[in-house]
Amino acid sequence: MPPPPPPPSHLYIYPTTLHIVLNLIPITSISLSKHQIEMDIALNNTHKFLSKIATNDGHGENSPYFDGWKAYDTDPFHHETNPSGVIQMGLAENQLCFDLIQEWIGNHPEASICTPQGGFDFKEIALFQDYHGLPEFRSAIANFMSRVRGSRVEFDPDRIVMSGGATGAHETLAFCLANRGEAFLVPTPYYPGFDRDLKWRTGVELIPVVCESSNNFKVTLEALEDAYDKAKESNIKVKGLLITNPSNPLGTFYDKETLKTLVGFINEKNIHLVCDEIYAGTVTRENEFVSIAEVLEEFPTICDHNLIHIVYSLSKDMGFPGFRVGIIYSYNDMVVNIARKMSSFGLVSTQTQHMVASMLSENDFVDNFIKESRNRLAHRHNMFTRELAQVGIGSLESNAGLFFWMDLRRFLKEPTFESEMTFWRTIISEIKLNVSPGSSFHCNEPGWFRVCFANMDDATVMVALERIKSFVHETRMLEIKTMAKIKTKKQCWQNNLQLKLSSRRLEDIMSPQYSPLNSPMLRAQN
Ligand SMILES: Cc1ncc(COP(=O)(O)O)c(C=O)c1O
Repeated sequence: MPPPPPPPSHLYIYPTTLHIVLNLIPITSISLSKHQIEMDIALNNTHKFLSKIATNDGHGENSPYFDGWKAYDTDPFHHETNPSGVIQMGLAENQLCFDLIQEWIGNHPEASICTPQGGFDFKEIALFQDYHGLPEFRSAIANFMSRVRGSRVEFDPDRIVMSGGATGAHETLAFCLANRGEAFLVPTPYYPGFDRDLKWRTGVELIPVVCESSNNFKVTLEALEDAYDKAKESNIKVKGLLITNPSNPLGTFYDKETLKTLVGFINEKNIHLVCDEIYAGTVTRENEFVSIAEVLEEFPTICDHNLIHIVYSLSKDMGFPGFRVGIIYSYNDMVVNIARKMSSFGLVSTQTQHMVASMLSENDFVDNFIKESRNRLAHRHNMFTRELAQVGIGSLESNAGLFFWMDLRRFLKEPTFESEMTFWRTIISEIKLNVSPGSSFHCNEPGWFRVCFANMDDATVMVALERIKSFVHETRMLEIKTMAKIKTKKQCWQNNLQLKLSSRRLEDIMSPQYSPLNSPMLRAQN
């Protein structure tokens, strides 16, 4: 008998010590080098060598949200070098106003300690490491947060605690507000990073508050109570409610009445409210956005202010995720105090603080930037959703964020999450777009996808749109062909039937047993 062919290289499982131990491979049939065996032992014993946190997979990188990024990384689109590559539409980056930032930097060489004009501050800045942060940095951030919210509310620089991005801010707050095993309620769909940021190292749990497309994914009091009761039934102590306003992935924001309802809910239950307002500056209808800070200012007695905490960062509104400027703004003195101490683990570098302080304390620049950024985002958002609507692809109505929530339910073979994943794989491998499936945001209804639109240039947008349009066109042609085939088959079947019936009739009439009394109609009537 000829030997079996070798497995394809990507399926080949290298024999490990584990295989030998489990008798999967007879020890005599292979020879392992000493180095190989040592490596395998180390690998197989990883769980014994490292901590539970290190090996509990809590980073969440096995989610399709991150898989899509990997698909992009292996075949990234480039106009010239890889025009058929994957376009990254799974990254909520705001790259539409870098020209304004670059212009400001060019005009302000003194803001950097690495230029001849700013270098005389180098020593002082390089030595500074107080976890309170540079006073001018905190003032500039408070000023920026206020201007982003239309100057309708003020922020106290002394309540500003810095952290490594909003990622660090969320974890710090989770450490401050809850113990291992306790939980936060989170309306769905929600940002997948929360599963990592709030849960991984703290041991805190997240409990979904199920929101549905039938009411545009609005959070209702019933859904909140339901999630709260379920947690109680499972003996899980709820310590807070976490909302993202404006929402990632929906691109919508809460109206004042809903915010008041949420505040009423947490106050009654005596739990915390964490408001992630990281997308506050992306709201295109600026006067309509309501920050939780405004609710507290307008209705000061609505709740115990000690329960309210805001998470903010410059990653989205300014488009600086690499600067890792995250903010906790708490109305609770103790939380401010503890969070500040904890911030030692994730301070913003003083060099960044120094630069950001210069930039964000210049009101003309800030106001112009916010206005221009809003306009450009609105333009991109409207153009994208309008073009898709023209080919029959709908999306949830939204006015904020760096993304929209695309409705592809009608493209699923079945309304299941398996179908959603199958279709998502088609989108990545055939349409060559990395959009994020709703299931990775804990959406309870299959067929929704988040599409990011602000991390690319206009030319890439056009390519992405063309790809979607031609996919829809091809699908339609396929549908038409299938319908035509079904119609032809049906027609043939009917013709055959008629033919059969007429020949049958003829046979019947010719046959001696034919009698009108044998007609089934007549029999039934009798
Ligand atoms: C809602 C939300 N919160 C927090 C983060 C993390 O932001 P940062 O880059 O500031 O850590 C993100 C990033 O996408 C986000 O969408």
